[in-house]
Amino acid sequence: MEKLKITGGQTLHGEISVSGAKNAALPAIFACLLTDEKCVLDNIPALRDVDLALNVLRTMGVICDYQEGKAHINAASLNTRQAPYHLVKTMRASVLALGPLLARFHQATVSLPGGCAIGARPVNMHIDGLRQMGATLKIEHGDIVSKTKKRLRAANIRLPQPTVTGTENLMMAASLADGETVIENAAQEPEIIDLAAFLNKMGAKIRGAGDERIYIMGVDRLRGATHNIIPDRIETGTYLCAATAVGGDIFLKNARLNDLSAVVKKLKAVGAKIQQQQTGIHLLMKNRPRAVSVKTAPHPGFPTDMQAQWMAVCAIADGAAEITENIFENRFMHVPELARMGADLLQHDGFVAVRGVQQLSGARVMATDLRASASLVIAALAAQGMTTIERIYHLDRGYVRMDEKLQTLGAQIERIH
Ligand code: EPZ
Repeated sequence: MEKLKITGGQTLHGEISVSGAKNAALPAIFACLLTDEKCVLDNIPALRDVDLALNVLRTMGVICDYQEGKAHINAASLNTRQAPYHLVKTMRASVLALGPLLARFHQATVSLPGGCAIGARPVNMHIDGLRQMGATLKIEHGDIVSKTKKRLRAANIRLPQPTVTGTENLMMAASLADGETVIENAAQEPEIIDLAAFLNKMGAKIRGAGDERIYIMGVDRLRGATHNIIPDRIETGTYLCAATAVGGDIFLKNARLNDLSAVVKKLKAVGAKIQQQQTGIHLLMKNRPRAVSVKTAPHPGFPTDMQAQWMAVCAIADGAAEITENIFENRFMHVPELARMGADLLQHDGFVAVRGVQQLSGARVMATDLRASASLVIAALAAQGMTTIERIYHLDRGYVRMDEKLQTLGAQIERIH
């Protein structure tokens, strides 16, 4: 198993490029199932989850060629309507095959994505929405078995709460349905806007993506298209938090401030100077951050995917803060690991009280999930002495070559094979 060895105490200086957004790349890859024409996706990040998504499609007969950040996908050769369990179980975003397969082939079998470290993560809202569009869906032996006698029909779907992949699944299904579907209480993340942009290039008729109400007028067929994936706002936020925690002067090329307004507002509150420039974001941090509380919420609120990283900033900040997680029921597994490094954290039901300490100390810690791993990296960069982080395959799911990018910024970090 690979590990990361980090010696803390360095400030961060220099320029790195932000990669394409994992959570925009994954839905776009599955959206290619909606047409039998060739699609080209650019700025696709070289991540394990992207490999897994392409392998799901390959196993189903789809031609997928990925090189230098470009994915060429052609689903004309699709030879099954079943997404393979052994791959789906390793990546829950495979549930995004459901909407496209149902919409185009009127049947789909996708294994029920299990829960994961951060929570049960049910897909009942995906299923209920597709039922309202005329599909029958049953759970049989761990699979979602779905079919529809004829073309899906438009529906007025009001989501009980914003679900990102739920909104994406329903938007893809509705793009080929008969009539105009309205999704109310839709997720508003930038990745939703990016997926709608790609679908519209394919000939879909979607408006309102990014607002709480999305209108999708179904069309008879979609054609191949080329699309450039947006930059990863969570990768951006992670590096902004790292430089805020340890101090420094960094430039993140391709980063977009507007995708991260809730995070940027908090970073400025703790003392960081942040500016959007022509080709990216500049951050300057000269002193110890002040502690500031956050509550996670659906976009445009403070993203749950930044909660663990924020805790690392508060762990060494001046003062006390409360970090409230409102999206997932078990997204505090970084707490005991941060505590091993000397963080002063008190976990309550749904929130953690953090009292900033002057100095964290390096230790052997273990990554438990993607964003928890990023939190440990930030803490290690700020800690006195050496930290070893184990199970960093979690980190590689969502961050392209984080060790190399941090080395570029002057961190003392190396990957041990
Ligand atoms: C997406 O997951 C992201 N993944 C997650 O990023 C992100 O943390 C999450 O949205 C929240 O922003 C991708 O986009 C691939 P949800 P998703 O449906 O769509 C509950 C990362 O770190 N819910 O928005 O699975 C659910 O349990 C990953 O990159 C239901 O109850 O999340 C959760 O409490 C981790 N029933 C809440 O809604 C449903 O049918 C939000 O989940 C669907 C969701």
